[in-house]
Amino acid sequence: FERGLLSGRHVLINAGPTREAIDPVRYISNHSSGKMGFALAEAAAEAGARVTLVAGPVNLPTPARVQRIDVTSAQDMLDACLAALPADIFIASAAVADYRPASAADQKMKKDTANEDGLTLTLVRNPDILATLAEHSQRPDCCVGFAAETHDVLNYAADKLQRKKLDLIVANDVSQSGIGFNSDDNAVTLIDRQLERCSLPQASKQKLARQIIARIAGQLNH
Ligand code: C5P
Repeated sequence: FERGLLSGRHVLINAGPTREAIDPVRYISNHSSGKMGFALAEAAAEAGARVTLVAGPVNLPTPARVQRIDVTSAQDMLDACLAALPADIFIASAAVADYRPASAADQKMKKDTANEDGLTLTLVRNPDILATLAEHSQRPDCCVGFAAETHDVLNYAADKLQRKKLDLIVANDVSQSGIGFNSDDNAVTLIDRQLERCSLPQASKQKLARQIIARIAGQLNH
């Protein structure tokens, strides 16, 4: 892992979950810890890059020499990522909520006595942050996505790479316990535009982050 690998480069990374408000006290979210994205930010800074880390609500310290921007919703995360452009590399590690409530109530919702059986929430699609940046006029030269799947991981990942016009996708099988979501270890397969695969066996997210950053730098300097 060479320290000057990314000197002079701006690396934009998003990480963690997003929170989609139902009312002032409730939200829809997911269990993403943000650990992989924070490890990537740390590794990119160690490689000499200027790093902007757009973070959803997570409980992690900011890595040294990383500029962190905290956001809550997917829309806020998109706005912060767009505001951080131009960047040479965009790594979309965030677990962006696919849907949000169609409207957030401005007061705390009360139990509906007229309807004891249930409550129906209408959800609408959130913007796809990665696809938006990958199609942007200031598109980063290297756009990297993550694909966390429980089955048929590599096929879905390759499909996502092509559909979202990415340069690299990091596929991980979240059905295996001890790796992926919320754990300290991960095991991933990188797939590039030529659909060439490279498996990185189970290791700490810090170690994998360095391997992924080295691979991205190699692709960029090619
Ligand atoms: O389509 P899927 O959610 O599985 O794709 C995962 C990749 O797309 C991740 O890199 C994730 O950060 C990104 N994504 C996004 N905006 C969304 C949904 C996913 O940037 N609304």
